Amino acid sequence: MPTLIEIAHEQGATDERAIAHLGALVSEWGMLADFCFADMLLYLPTADKKWIVAAQVRAATGQTLYDSDLVGLGADLIEQAMLDQAFNSQKVVTGAIQVESQQDPVSLMAIPVRCDDRVIAVLTREWSTRSGRKPGQLERTYLTIFDEFTKMISTGLFPFEGRVADATVAPRVGDGVIVLDADARVRYASPNAVSAMHRVGVSTNAVGQSLAELGVAQTAARNAYERREPVVEEFEQTAEVTLLTRTIPTLKRVGGQLVVTGGVVLLRDVSELRRRDRLLLTKDATIREIHHRVKNNLQTISSLLRLQARRLQSEEAVSAIAESVRRIRTIALVHETLSHEAGEDISFVEIVRPLLRLVEEGLQSSDRPVKFSVDGDGGRLPATIATPLSVVILELLQNAVDHGFPEGSAGGAVLVNLSHDDKLLTIRVTDNGRGLSNDFDIGKATGLGLSIVRTLVTTELAGTISMRSALVDDSVGELQISTNGAGTVVDLKIPFIGE
Ligand SMILES: Nc1ncnc2c1ncn2[C@@H]1O[C@H](COP(=O)(O)OP(=O)(O)OP(=O)(O)O)[C@@H](O)[C@H]1O
Ligand SMILES: [Mg+2]
Repeated sequence: MPTLIEIAHEQGATDERAIAHLGALVSEWGMLADFCFADMLLYLPTADKKWIVAAQVRAATGQTLYDSDLVGLGADLIEQAMLDQAFNSQKVVTGAIQVESQQDPVSLMAIPVRCDDRVIAVLTREWSTRSGRKPGQLERTYLTIFDEFTKMISTGLFPFEGRVADATVAPRVGDGVIVLDADARVRYASPNAVSAMHRVGVSTNAVGQSLAELGVAQTAARNAYERREPVVEEFEQTAEVTLLTRTIPTLKRVGGQLVVTGGVVLLRDVSELRRRDRLLLTKDATIREIHHRVKNNLQTISSLLRLQARRLQSEEAVSAIAESVRRIRTIALVHETLSHEAGEDISFVEIVRPLLRLVEEGLQSSDRPVKFSVDGDGGRLPATIATPLSVVILELLQNAVDHGFPEGSAGGAVLVNLSHDDKLLTIRVTDNGRGLSNDFDIGKATGLGLSIVRTLVTTELAGTISMRSALVDDSVGELQISTNGAGTVVDLKIPFIGE
């Protein structure tokens, strides 16, 4: 189905301003159809002086005359005469037409659509007086509103320039309508609007009062009237009720001035919507808060351990506790990072960097400087993977420092490489230190460090680990591995279940 813009171009329309005006009209006209309880068609003049339907809208408040789509069709002779008349006279024309689906004649109102100083299209309202709604106060009021908008369309005051409502949440006529007079006093409130006002505690008859007096959506009318354009505002009326309002002033030109003749407030109770938004928000905030507290608790534990270590005489015990403190700080680090993240996932590099710093800090002697760096990207991981993985990496980094660059060595470099595809996360820790002894076998390593690594990688993370001596080919940047030198490469492969 061709769009309005395509049809306009097909018919040789070149005035982009006029086309934008029609686009804006069509984006607003659901409201117009609702106010007049009728089908509306937008007719464009064709090159051969006929008319073509460029867009169609049905009312949510009334029955349609047209089950089929009329876009792209032409006008019959009677319609054409009325459209011509509206176009040429620049005035609203009413009459009767025959419609296939209806036995009786159908009423047609042809409204010239004005942009700047000329008429660019004709908008029609088409309705059957027989199937129409029984006129009550609502019907009468809405039709007067529609009349105001009709005048605005034919004088180029509607649609408003550059204002397109967000259709997904914008209130519609069916949600609730308050009609205001020129002084912003309530002339009429639709049943749905009355219900919404009841919910915020307005039980008096609103008619004759201003919104400020009612205490509902106070600034909506003022802003719309002052700016002479539609204003969308949301009001937290009470702790439970949130109202979304769209206030559209009706205008007329008097001399060179725009005068506000009244306005309509479309209002929708969005409390439920907002309550869910807030819940989501607080769930996120709660998760962050929990991570923050876990981090604090872990820090408390590591301080307690440090206090205890100070009272110990045995060097072995002191260093065992120092290691525990380091491991706990690593886990705290993950939680700290998680406490800044919006979701439950974490960008893994964001943990590796502070891990490197943690090890760097622990390396007090400056006689054997070690350069730490990280390269690549590990993607985003859930905390369940990020936490054990950080402990693993800490152990590997610590080993590189402890065994690669023991006291008396000259120092060197340690590089952590991260990469991932949608299946596998690959981590490589390389150092250019002393290297592994010839008989080293990771399967037989009995130290606590590698035991932790092995357990976490193979059971917790369902991955694999391998260690080998570094080769010249492993050199990257600062990490130069010489032919006679040595170094260690540790490879981890973890099934990737991040994003
Ligand atoms: N990067 C490395 N360079 C050289 N040797 C290493 C390296 N990583 C591990 N090793 C060797 O593997 C052994 C086992 O390491 P592991 O981490 O299990 O124990 P540890 O470091 O001796 O003690 P712990 O980690 O429990 O304090 C080390 O003693 C060391 O000989
Ligand atoms: Mg170790």
